[in-house]
Amino acid sequence: MRVYVTRPIPAAGLELLSELEVSVYEEAERLPPRSALLAGAGGADGILSLLTERIDAEVMDRAPNLRVISNMAVGYDNIDVAEARRRGVMVCNTPGVLTETTADFTWALMMAVARRVVEGDGYVRAGRFPGWGPLMLLGRDLHGATLGIVGNGRIGQAVARRAAGFGMEVLVHRGVPLEALLERSDFVSLHVPLSGETTHMIGARELARMKPTAYLINTSRGPVVDETALVEALASGAIAGAALDVFEREPAVHEGLLGLENVVLAPHIASASVATRDRMAVMAATNLLQALRGDEPNHRVC
Ligand code: GLV
Repeated sequence: MRVYVTRPIPAAGLELLSELEVSVYEEAERLPPRSALLAGAGGADGILSLLTERIDAEVMDRAPNLRVISNMAVGYDNIDVAEARRRGVMVCNTPGVLTETTADFTWALMMAVARRVVEGDGYVRAGRFPGWGPLMLLGRDLHGATLGIVGNGRIGQAVARRAAGFGMEVLVHRGVPLEALLERSDFVSLHVPLSGETTHMIGARELARMKPTAYLINTSRGPVVDETALVEALASGAIAGAALDVFEREPAVHEGLLGLENVVLAPHIASASVATRDRMAVMAATNLLQALRGDEPNHRVC
């Protein structure tokens, strides 16, 4: 059995595949060029993919015996699932294991932008800290504020659970209509999967409904937000700030975001804890092994 692993993953996962003929694209810090992905997929029975690789008909054409595409991510918008289904190729993902870690990071971003942690760090490093100041870097309180959660899945619910500790009022869409949630929330946090329905779900019209004192947090997928509209809303003061772990055209980031101080930018690391990445790798490898052995994978999308 031939398996192609599209990027180096934690050893805990790779070790599980030792009985198979495994090839791994070796450059950890660089996205594999499309040509490497196509060549690597050649003749594979299984592909262990990351969310950075587009796995479509062209890739599947290279592997006529392909049985399984096992994505080491909970989101699988990088895979043409309809095409895989048509060919009888299984698609697997890693739900559950990254829920709490991603929820933790959502709070890291929310607190960072509201309390201006990154700006403050910049002050200190640049030697601009003159001593405690009554008017220096004033931010917004989280405690007692209203948190709007868009997407009531595992991660959205884990973010909501944490809000109880801050004494926040929580609004959840679906349940509360999106318009009302946007109008009432001090923080809006996105937790929907990317689909045709959620692409640009937050655009100029939605941003205009938010309070000028409110913040947008995105740890879901970049294209859920119209990045150009967001830059305009941030620059014009239509909203107070944003904290983003994901971008519309990763790894590219809208240039307008880079010049703004009221935005915190993270490089898609919400699930990036040592323990969680190990668990994701083990889960993805286990799904792949199960599929190749003819067993039902634990986490199968199709
Ligand atoms: C990360 O973004 C994931 O979908 O697991």
